[in-house]
Amino acid sequence: MILVLVTIICGIGEAAQVEYFNVMDYGAKGDAITDDSVAFLKAWNDTCNSETDEPTMVIPRRQFFLRPTTFRGPCKSKVHFAILGVLFAPSGPKEWKELNDTVKFIEFEYVNGLYIHGVGLINGRGKGWWDISCRYHPDLKALRFHKSNDIHMSQIRIIDSPQTHILLLGCNDVEFEGLFIKSPDGSPNTDGIHIQATNNVFINSSFIGSGDDCVSIGDGISNVNITYVTCGPGHGISIGSLGGSGNVVNVSNIHVRHAIFNGTQNGARIKTYQTGRGEVRDVEFSDIKFIDAGNPIIIDQYYCGNPNGCPPTNVGVQISNVSYTDMYGTSKADVAVNFNCSGNVACTDIKLENINLTSSTIGKQVTSSCNNAYGEAKGTIEPKSCLNSKT
Ligand SMILES: *[C@@H]1O[C@H](CO)[C@@H](O)[C@H](O)[C@H]1NC(C)=O
Ligand SMILES: *[C@@H]1O[C@H](CO)[C@@H](O)[C@H](O)[C@H]1NC(C)=O
Ligand SMILES: *[C@@H]1O[C@H](CO)[C@@H](O)[C@H](O)[C@H]1NC(C)=O
Ligand SMILES: *[C@@H]1O[C@H](CO)[C@@H](O)[C@H](O)[C@H]1NC(C)=O
Ligand SMILES: *[C@@H]1O[C@H](CO)[C@@H](O)[C@H](O)[C@H]1NC(C)=O
Ligand SMILES: *[C@@H]1O[C@H](CO)[C@@H](O)[C@H](O)[C@H]1NC(C)=O
Ligand SMILES: *[C@@H]1O[C@H](CO)[C@@H](O)[C@H](O)[C@H]1NC(C)=O
Ligand SMILES: *[C@@H]1O[C@H](CO)[C@@H](O)[C@H](O)[C@H]1NC(C)=O
Ligand SMILES: *[C@@H]1O[C@H](CO)[C@@H](O)[C@H](O)[C@H]1NC(C)=O
Repeated sequence: MILVLVTIICGIGEAAQVEYFNVMDYGAKGDAITDDSVAFLKAWNDTCNSETDEPTMVIPRRQFFLRPTTFRGPCKSKVHFAILGVLFAPSGPKEWKELNDTVKFIEFEYVNGLYIHGVGLINGRGKGWWDISCRYHPDLKALRFHKSNDIHMSQIRIIDSPQTHILLLGCNDVEFEGLFIKSPDGSPNTDGIHIQATNNVFINSSFIGSGDDCVSIGDGISNVNITYVTCGPGHGISIGSLGGSGNVVNVSNIHVRHAIFNGTQNGARIKTYQTGRGEVRDVEFSDIKFIDAGNPIIIDQYYCGNPNGCPPTNVGVQISNVSYTDMYGTSKADVAVNFNCSGNVACTDIKLENINLTSSTIGKQVTSSCNNAYGEAKGTIEPKSCLNSKT
C-alpha cells in the first residue's frame, strides 16, 4: 500500500508535505456491505478543509458500499482523491429508491482543482435498471461533475452505470486520461462520457465500450479534444443530439483524433433535430480507423426521438467547417458516408481528405449520400465524394 501511494505522490511534489486522509481512519469498514458514506464524507470534509498543499483523500484497496454521495467544495487547496479500491453503488432500483437519489451515485460539486487517480473501480451495478423502460426511471449517472473546474482524472475504471457513466455539467478545464469505461453492448442510455455546458475538455488514451455513445457532446460546448480513444461496443462519438427544444445551438472547436471505432452502431456522428437553430462549427475528425462500424461518417439533421415522427420546420442548425481526414476501415451500412443536412440550412465547408471505407461484407460496394451538403474533397476518397462544390 505504502509503495503504491509513494508512486502516486511522486511527481506531485515533496512527499513530506502531503497530508493523507484515509477513509479507514474515519470508520469506514470496506466490507462491501456496510454503508461507508458517512466515513467518506468525514474524510472529505477534512481533506477539503485542509490548508496543506494538495491534501489527499485515500480510498484503500478494499471494497466499499456507498449510498449516493456528493463531495462538495469549494476546498481550501487543490485536492487529490486516490481511489485504490472498489466503490459499489446501490445494487438495484429498489435499493436506489429507498435512498431517494434520482441523479447520481458519486458527485463532485463546486470543486476547483481536483485530481482523481488510482487504479480503482466504480461499479454502478446498473443491470437491474437496464430492463426497465427509460421513461420510468431517472437518469442516474455513476459519476457526475457539476459546476467544478480544473478537474483531472486518470487510470480509473467505471463499469455498469445505470445510465451515463460520467457527466460533465457546467464545468471548465477537464482532463481525463487512461480511463476504462465498460457496460454490455445494448445497455440503454449508458453513454460513456456526456459533456454538457462545459468548455475545455481533453480526453486522452481511454477505452470506452459503454453500449451507448462513447462520448456525446451536448449543447453549449467549445474546445474539446478527444484523442487515442478506442470506442465500442456502443454508438460512436456523437455531437448531439442538438436543438431538440427549438433552442439556439452553439457548439464549436471539437477535435477527434486517433480514434478506433470497433463494432459501433455509428462512428463520427453529428445529429440535430429539425427544430434546432444556431450552429455547429469547426469540427475535426482525423486519423480514425473503423472496424465493422454502422455509419462511419454521418451527419443527420433529421434526428427525431419520437416514434411517431417529427414534423418539418423552416429552421435548422447551421453546420460548417467540418473536416474528415485519414479515415479508413469497414462499414456495416451500405451508405458509408451520409451527409443528410437540413433542407433549410445547408452544411457548408465540409472537407474530406484521404477516406477509404469499404463494406464489412466482402464483395459489396458502399456509397456516399449527400443532401444539401457543400464542400470539397482531396486525395483518395472511397466511396466517391458527393459533396457539392462551393457556389
Ligand atoms: C468539517 O471540518 C471542519 C474543519 O476541519 C470541522 O470544523 C467540522 O466540524 C467538520 N464537519 C463535519 C460535519 O465533520
Ligand atoms: C426517503 O424518503 C422517504 C419519504 O420522504 C423517507 O421516509 C426516508 O427516510 C428517506 N430515506 C432516506 C435514506 O433518506
Ligand atoms: C486541443 O488541441 C489543440 C492543438 O491541436 C490545442 O491548441 C488545444 O489547447 C487543445 N485543447 C484542449 C482543451 O485540450
Ligand atoms: C495521449 O495519449 C497518447 C497515447 O497513449 C500518448 O502518447 C500521449 O503522450 C498523450 N498525450 C498527452 C498530452 O498526455
Ligand atoms: C457561442 O460560443 C462561442 C464560443 O464559446 C462564443 O464566443 C459565442 O459568443 C457564443 N455565441 C452565442 C450566440 O452564444
Ligand atoms: C474489436 O472488438 C472485438 C469484439 O469485442 C475484439 O475481439 C477485438 O479485439 C477488437 N479489436 C480491436 C482492434 O480493438
Ligand atoms: C475550421 O476549423 C478548424 C478546426 O477544426 C480551425 O482550425 C479553422 O480555423 C476553421 N476554419 C475557419 C475558416 O474558421
Ligand atoms: C435523410 O433523412 C430523411 C428524413 O429522416 C430520411 O427519410 C432519409 O432516408 C435520410 N437519408 C439517408 C440517406 O439516410
Ligand atoms: C482501400 O482499402 C482497401 C481495403 O483495405 C484496399 O484494398 C484498397 O487498396 C484501398 N484503396 C485505396 C485507394 O487506398
